Amino acid sequence: MKYLLDTANLDAIRYYTDIFPIAGVTSNPSIVKKEGKIDFFAHMNEIRSIIGMDKTLHIQVTALDTDGMLRDAETILNKVDDQVCVKVPVTLEGIKAIKTLKKQDVNVTATAIYSKQQGFLAMEAGADYIAPYFNRMENMGIDPDDVIASFAEMIGLYGYHTQILGASFKNAGQVDRAFLAGAQTATMDPSILSAALTQAHILKAVDDFDADWKSVYGDVTISE
Ligand code: E4P
Repeated sequence: MKYLLDTANLDAIRYYTDIFPIAGVTSNPSIVKKEGKIDFFAHMNEIRSIIGMDKTLHIQVTALDTDGMLRDAETILNKVDDQVCVKVPVTLEGIKAIKTLKKQDVNVTATAIYSKQQGFLAMEAGADYIAPYFNRMENMGIDPDDVIASFAEMIGLYGYHTQILGASFKNAGQVDRAFLAGAQTATMDPSILSAALTQAHILKAVDDFDADWKSVYGDVTISE
């Protein structure tokens, strides 16, 4: 399992990559918007310098047509680095761009996936990652567990190198389900990871251990 941060907030990226076992950072234009009118490429380069080259950085194209997407990809690779995973929505224009980018050996993350067929086509076009939108599917009455399990089945059956990058999560339970359905990777807002380790019952258990220890040994730890 690999965890990625779905944010462009530099403070959050610094803070949470230091704490959690993070494999990369993803964003999309809506996530970037939350940071205000930033100098886009300076910002993406800053994210890269925080996470280093051993983690994956996924940056989305903004053009809607194939040629524009290919120009966006080239600009991203030139202005950040050639290891970036270029995020391309799986539309008619997008799938054509994905095919071309894979012929050029560019790392591609196929995104905005709401259906099995979008994912299957992206795998067949050579995408390195496919990003099914878990919460958005659930909101539409589509079973995201089944969609992800189908992707995992096809990867197993036919040996695609594609990894499933679960996305669009609103809580830790959805992340659990995506991993259990077969997603190798999942990207989420850091608040989901943080919430998973700060539940009241966890803190209470730790407080109880602390009180019991101190009631016997006083206010010292075992190393003091
Ligand atoms: C991944 O990077 C996706 O773009 C993202 O997870 C979508 O999340 P949302 O449904 O919260 O907008």
